[in-house]
Amino acid sequence: MSVLLETRGLSKHFGGVLALDGLDLAVAPNEILGLIGPNGSGKTTFFNVITGIYSADAGRVTFDGADVTNASGRTIYQVGMSRTFQRSRLSLPLSIFDNIMIGNHKRLNQGLWFNLVSRGDFKREFEQSYAAARALVEVFEPTLVDRLFDPVAGLPMIDRRRIEICRALISTPKLLLLD
Ligand SMILES: Nc1ncnc2c1ncn2[C@@H]1O[C@H](COP(=O)(O)OP(=O)(O)OP(=O)(O)O)[C@@H](O)[C@H]1O
Ligand SMILES: [Mg+2]
Repeated sequence: MSVLLETRGLSKHFGGVLALDGLDLAVAPNEILGLIGPNGSGKTTFFNVITGIYSADAGRVTFDGADVTNASGRTIYQVGMSRTFQRSRLSLPLSIFDNIMIGNHKRLNQGLWFNLVSRGDFKREFEQSYAAARALVEVFEPTLVDRLFDPVAGLPMIDRRRIEICRALISTPKLLLLD
């Protein structure tokens, strides 16, 4: 059986609190795995350690054959993992579209030349991004597709959650982590 994500002996403590205690876990391609546990049992900590927010005290993380233990957020993005956060991290004054694009900013060309001079390429990149964002929003909440430039501040919590999932998916990850 092939393995997409694997952890071996993953441990993390905060002072005297052992949040992860030698966790061995494997996720296969196309597998859907639920992490169930009471409040404070370490679910968020697990996500934070494998996505580079916290460093592990011990253990290894491999993804798609590469060792990504304590890798940076950029590396995690590049290997194809993306996530949502337990507490919303949307920027409320920004539009639905801008919030979704935050999930793709490492792929967009941010060069001065590209943005100011290569106007045709810039326009094409924008149009591709817009089409991709629209297609994702259509899947999760079709009524929002014509409101992509409205600020997310006006959306109910359920739609904000949907937009966060779209933001995690815009980078076409191999593994989506939903906290
Ligand atoms: N940054 C931190 N500093 C100190 N302690 C932390 C930190 N993050 C998590 N903890 C502690 O680690 C333990 C695991 O917390 P974690 O948030 O991972 O649990 P959880 O399973 O996600 O809980 P919940 O179901 O409430 O979301 C808890 O005791 C928590 O207080
Ligand atoms: Mg949590």
